[in-house]
Amino acid sequence: MAAPKQTIWPLEPHTRAKHEILKRYLQAWMVILSQGRFPEILYIDGFAGPGQYEGGEAGSPIIALDTALAFKPPLTATIHFLFVEERTDRADYLRQQVALRALPANFSVIVEGGMTFETAFTNRYSSYVRQGRLMPTFAFIDPFGWTGAPFSLVKQILSHRSCEVFVNFMYEEINRFIGHPDQVANFNSFFGTEEWRRCASTSEPRVRNRCLHDLYLSQLHTDAKYVRSFEMSNARDVTDYYLFYATNELLGLKKMKEAMWKTDESGEFRFSDATDPNQFILFEKAPQLPALRQRLVTKFTGKDASVADIERYVLVETAFRESHYKGILKSLERDGALKAVNPAAARRTGTFGDPAMVLRFA
Ligand SMILES: C[S@@+](CC[C@H](N)C(=O)[O-])C[C@H]1O[C@@H](n2cnc3c(N)ncnc32)[C@H](O)[C@@H]1O
Repeated sequence: MAAPKQTIWPLEPHTRAKHEILKRYLQAWMVILSQGRFPEILYIDGFAGPGQYEGGEAGSPIIALDTALAFKPPLTATIHFLFVEERTDRADYLRQQVALRALPANFSVIVEGGMTFETAFTNRYSSYVRQGRLMPTFAFIDPFGWTGAPFSLVKQILSHRSCEVFVNFMYEEINRFIGHPDQVANFNSFFGTEEWRRCASTSEPRVRNRCLHDLYLSQLHTDAKYVRSFEMSNARDVTDYYLFYATNELLGLKKMKEAMWKTDESGEFRFSDATDPNQFILFEKAPQLPALRQRLVTKFTGKDASVADIERYVLVETAFRESHYKGILKSLERDGALKAVNPAAARRTGTFGDPAMVLRFA
């Protein structure tokens, strides 16, 4: 899709899915970080848009704000919102949307209009630093293409504890322009390396797609322990964009997976985990659990592993989430393929609530 020229534009189905994920994740993130753990947190929407779509649906900055406002009891930490929108007409529109809401004293909302994410973040950065550290931050980076989202900023955010990024990697646009000689500096900046040239020189579309995806993934991994990517494809099964989520918090990964798995299916797009090319897993109401069972058997056969180890493996190494594996453990136990080595005396067969319980895989 070409970038719209008008101030507001129609909401596309896959954008609705992206918003659903964002909302679900923020519902968890805001409460986990603000209730007791941190006195101040920051939500950045680096490419905020006007805050509303043509049909009246909320855009990402308003989704973030309304999510924070909806908590009962209200959030007590100070929540900073930094919304950046380069176009002044869209920034003005967004300001109007913000002004329609009654904000509590612990909410600080800044709409930076008429300047880029890079400039606004650089100018404002020191105001969000406490004792030398950026406050816990979730940065949503959602450009129409690849310009204005330098990897140096992503790195800067990820280098701080409890800071994470959610990047919309606009594959279709990136792929279309990757060979343009006048875009070299922009791609160097976006990827934070010149390595993308290696991918650009590949003419086989699928190889090039994977190469660019894997490059961005590995770049994120230099600063984030956990990185997952999610592919949004169109009805013709062509990659539209990837969503990359990078964090150093296992709990964050758990919550993002939960948000992904709850996204509504639609005939108009296909949404899948794309982190590992050898594990194609579609997010759907009935997950492909035999694939997870096979992975668990392959990984743990002949070994002892605690329930916590298994959960960690499922979360970090597979597309699945924590709610998926316990049913599989139950069926493996029923089939005699595993047994509990150190169960609590009162344990019922088929229950795996104790993270320290060790399981022996036959
Ligand atoms: C994909 S739209 C954002 C949609 C919004 N995040 C949402 O989900 O509702 C990208 C927006 O970024 C703005 N933009 C483009 N380049 C920018 C830059 N360098 N810095 C900040 N905003 C930019 C565009 O005007 C556009 O409104």
